Amino acid sequence: MSRRKFVAGNWKMNLRSSSAVQLVGDLLASLPAGDCEIAVCPPSLYIPAVALRLRGTRIGVGGQNLWGEKDDAFTGEINGEMLVDCGCAYVILGHSERRQYAGETDAMVSRKLHSALAAGLVPIVCVGETLAQRDAGETQRIVTSQLHGSLADIDSHQASKVVVAYEPVWAIGTGRTATPQQAEEVHLLIRELLGDRFGTSTAAAIRIQYGGSVKPSNAADLLSQPNIDGALVGGASLKVEDFIPIIAAAAQN
Ligand code: PGA
Repeated sequence: MSRRKFVAGNWKMNLRSSSAVQLVGDLLASLPAGDCEIAVCPPSLYIPAVALRLRGTRIGVGGQNLWGEKDDAFTGEINGEMLVDCGCAYVILGHSERRQYAGETDAMVSRKLHSALAAGLVPIVCVGETLAQRDAGETQRIVTSQLHGSLADIDSHQASKVVVAYEPVWAIGTGRTATPQQAEEVHLLIRELLGDRFGTSTAAAIRIQYGGSVKPSNAADLLSQPNIDGALVGGASLKVEDFIPIIAAAAQN
């Protein structure tokens, strides 16, 4: 089964409206040839400006979060329909920074996932262990419970729309990347868990991104692993000279 590689840039809480539009303009000007799916996930305030600049291009737009309810009294929140309305096709859910700083639980991620799917967004669902959990030999248990909890109550048709991102927390923003073997081991586990839940043919079609200090120097090695189908890129997605070679590595692998 050949899965189309998917590289997404998670801008987190960075840039300003003008530098965001400039960045995507620069990306468009140097996009490498080759087939891979590409998205950027700006801070939500900048989504309309970025989406306008990217309309009709090869680069899609995603949100970094949503609130899993229909329009109602939820001060400060935005929902999936609003993301779609502003030009998004994707949304990142359950990023470790939201789990850590905003108290997101697997149950909350699951609720958001249902709402993202109902809005027609492609959800990128993040899972990953902390360093303490890895050192305690708990990687498998943590990733399994996050995956089951976050993907609760979806059927295989819905699962086929989901992208999973394996992001070991100890590799995010630290410069310390999982080795291709460490990452592949967990990606294979995730694929097997998806197979148990949704059947092997659905599992074989689901993209599993790796995230955590992906950079030009390690992208090709990671992306050539059999179960690594793309990258969720933080810091390196903010610089054209770093993000373009990562996209090129995905287009070649
Ligand atoms: P990083 O972030 O590439 O800066 O490590 C990845 C992420 O958090 O999605």
